[in-house]
Amino acid sequence: MAKSRMPRVLTVRAFAKINLDLQVLGLRPDGYHELRTTFQAIALSDTLTFRKSRGPFRIECDDPAFPVDRTNLIWKAAERVLRLAGTREAPSGMTVRVQKNIPMQSGLGGGSSNAAAALRALCVLWRVPASAAELHHAAAMIGADVPYFLEGGTALGFHRGDLLCPLDDIEPSWVVIVVPEFGVSTKDAFGWWDETRRERQDREEGQDGRDGQDRRYGKQRRAPVPSAARNMKSSNDLQHVVAKRHPIVSKLVRTLINEGAFQASLSGSGSAVFGLFRRRSDAQAAARRLAGPRTFVTPTLSRRACQRLAAK
Ligand code: C5P
Repeated sequence: MAKSRMPRVLTVRAFAKINLDLQVLGLRPDGYHELRTTFQAIALSDTLTFRKSRGPFRIECDDPAFPVDRTNLIWKAAERVLRLAGTREAPSGMTVRVQKNIPMQSGLGGGSSNAAAALRALCVLWRVPASAAELHHAAAMIGADVPYFLEGGTALGFHRGDLLCPLDDIEPSWVVIVVPEFGVSTKDAFGWWDETRRERQDREEGQDGRDGQDRRYGKQRRAPVPSAARNMKSSNDLQHVVAKRHPIVSKLVRTLINEGAFQASLSGSGSAVFGLFRRRSDAQAAARRLAGPRTFVTPTLSRRACQRLAAK
């Protein structure tokens, strides 16, 4: 492309996701957990404006809780793009303005989605040609969920969630998202899952040693979670361990089902809980009854819609 036609400013949208299901299959040798999950893109999004500027690399956001230093995944994406260009220089000459709508620490993938959007935008603005495989690798080095956001739509994620298999788009649905006041760190949630598994293993070993006596007691002890969470079948293996620390999660899932959602669960490692509805009006009615400062109604997005809308 001729130099004069290269943009100085680029605005992109970074979509959120929900996990329609999530199975934790075990601990991997690299310390991550082996997953099988179905990602689904939703229209709730952040807007990122990249502007060439003088001086150091800068991230700006009106939300004071949003990190603007090198721990931000946008910064890590900038470093990765420079590596693809063959340099280990520190990023500079760019200001990224983030309009943050996706709540942080909510399991909606906001940070990862920002990173994927930054990889794409900075490759354009810094004129770094990268193949799809190179982009995917760079994304996976930033975080397990980042590669998904290069694809969007409905996709199965294996390994750490970074080995992807695109699926046919689901029937368009309306999503009610409720984000409780607290956030959950992904690392903590997986740590809780490890704890629960260790406790269960200890109990099972202890039980084997009792020659099977007092089976009723054994059965009761095997349940690792409080009764409210235990009675709920969830499509997300992290839900019961998060609900054990934050019982409001189970309550919100139950409320969404009672309000008519055909599916409801925790998204990722939380803290957001979502319910799926066929009709927008039903979703809006449920959201009104659940009224809270962080309740959203948003449609699911097909893969094509993600690609089209990402370039705002
Ligand atoms: O890859 P990302 O930085 O988003 O992951 C955050 C943390 O979540 C990891 O450090 C790890 O503790 C945990 N995690 C995991 N298994 C995964 C994904 C994340 O244990 N598949």
